[in-house]
Formats: sequence, structure tokens, C-alpha cells
Amino acid sequence: MRDLPIVRSVADLRASLSEFRRAGESIGLVPTMGALHEGHLTLVRTAKAANTRVVATLFVNPTQFAPHEDLSAYPRDEAGDRAKLAEAGCDLLFAPDVSEIYPQGFATSVSVAGLTDHLDGIARPGHFGGVATIVSKLLLQSLPTRAYFGEKDFQQLQVIKRLVRDLDIPVEIVGVPTVRDTDGLALSSRNRYLSEGERRIAVILPQVLRETAVALAGGGPAAPVLDRAKERLLAAGFTAVDYVALCDEATMQPLSAAVSGSRVFVAAHLGRTRLIDNWKVG
Ligand code: PAF
Repeated sequence: MRDLPIVRSVADLRASLSEFRRAGESIGLVPTMGALHEGHLTLVRTAKAANTRVVATLFVNPTQFAPHEDLSAYPRDEAGDRAKLAEAGCDLLFAPDVSEIYPQGFATSVSVAGLTDHLDGIARPGHFGGVATIVSKLLLQSLPTRAYFGEKDFQQLQVIKRLVRDLDIPVEIVGVPTVRDTDGLALSSRNRYLSEGERRIAVILPQVLRETAVALAGGGPAAPVLDRAKERLLAAGFTAVDYVALCDEATMQPLSAAVSGSRVFVAAHLGRTRLIDNWKVG
């Protein structure tokens, strides 16, 4: 397998992408923080099917870690990730250092109001500001034709769609359905931290989520159904539940009963590992 070409500076990224553009190529961008799994590789393959070139980014973005989260413990395997990206058909990897992205004196941040008022906007203070800032930078650095993000991070996807619209960034944002293990658990870089026992408990999360979505589809009061889902997760062995919530997909505001365009969102902890997932109602 060929070595995937890698660039580390914005100048080199722009030079490579200008060549692609001069040759009339379309560019699909797949931003990642590495520790790649089948979910990321599905983003790459989806991008490959719709664009003539695929560029991935690998950058563990320090500004999207909440104060209580451990940036230094985030898994890193650049060589392994590079090989997987090459295998999946990626054409170029942008893997900058922190100083390339946030040079001395960096003072700007992008914040998206409203969509970040609930769920991970509360559970992970500062997280979406960090995401919105890095994604804005990556999109402006590369100016791709399309950029690809997983629906597992549904609130993030909505934040990115909004910032692109509000800041007039000329790119199509494509949401890609969540990739799941055969037992239903959504793939996540964090799953590697689960012990065997925790992995057995983790599978309850998508089950409860799906059943909660079905129970809410009739349109009755959401609160008792959501409370019951939380109790079931705790009874199954989850150590804490940040939220089980019903929200409008477009506004990410909580709903007291399901309407068209509702989705159930869950964030729960198994020991030191935090898992999130979501499921469309109806
Ligand atoms: O979803 C992720 O992996 C990250 O939040 C992203 C979009 C690459 C920004 O750092």
C-alpha cells in the first residue's frame, strides 16, 4: 500500500488543494481527531463516492476539551490512522501541530447560539465553541466542495451546518448515518476504553434509545418516558446519565412531546467512559 501524502502546514495544504482545483477536481473533506474506526472510514468512502479527491484532517483539537476532560489521555496513533486512510481511498492528510492552528496570540472564536443551549452545550462547557472554531478554520483553510460529519455527533452536525450558513462558507455539509457494531453500539473512539464487563453493559444504550424513540412516537408526554429510560440505564450499570432528552432536530431545543422532526439524545457514563447516541423518532 502506498504511503498517504501528508502535509503539516496550511500553506502546503493550500498548495496541494489549488493543484486539485486547477485540474477541475471536486474535494471532499473529512475532519477527524484520529483514533480512526469504521465510522470515520465510512465518511472517507462516502466522500470518495461523491468527489474526485478526498482530504482528511487529523488534529486533536485542544479547545474542544471541557475543563474536566483529559486532553493528554486522548488516543493517538498517526501511523495507524494514516495507513487506514490510505486503504479507504483518501488522497491527502492534513496533520498540523497545535502551533500551526493556534499560533501565539490567537484570539478569535466562533460561537453558535441557541443550538448549543442544551445537551452537550451544558454537559461539556466550552466544547462547541472549540468545535465551531476549528471546523471554521479547517473549512476556510481547505475550501472543499463538500465536508463530511457523522450523525452520531448530531448536535455537532447541526452546529456546523449553522455556522456554514451564517458565515457564508461555500461548502456543502453532508451528514452520514451512524455506523454501529453488530449488536447496535455506535462506533466511537471511546469504545476502546470499555472493559469487557462495561462493553456488555454498553449495548443496553442503543436498545433503551430505540425503545424510547418508539414509546415517544405516539406523541404522549415525554417526561415519564425519558425518566424511565434514565432509570433503566442506571439499573443496567451505567454510572451516571448526563441526559436522556427529546429535542427538535433543527433547533436542538427540548420538546415535551414528539412532533415531526424529533430525535432522542442520550449521554451516559460507564466508569470513565462517556458514551453518546441519538435516534430519530418515527
Ligand atoms: O467529530 C470530531 O472528531 C471533531 O469534533 C471534529 C469535527 C474533527 C473537530 O475537531
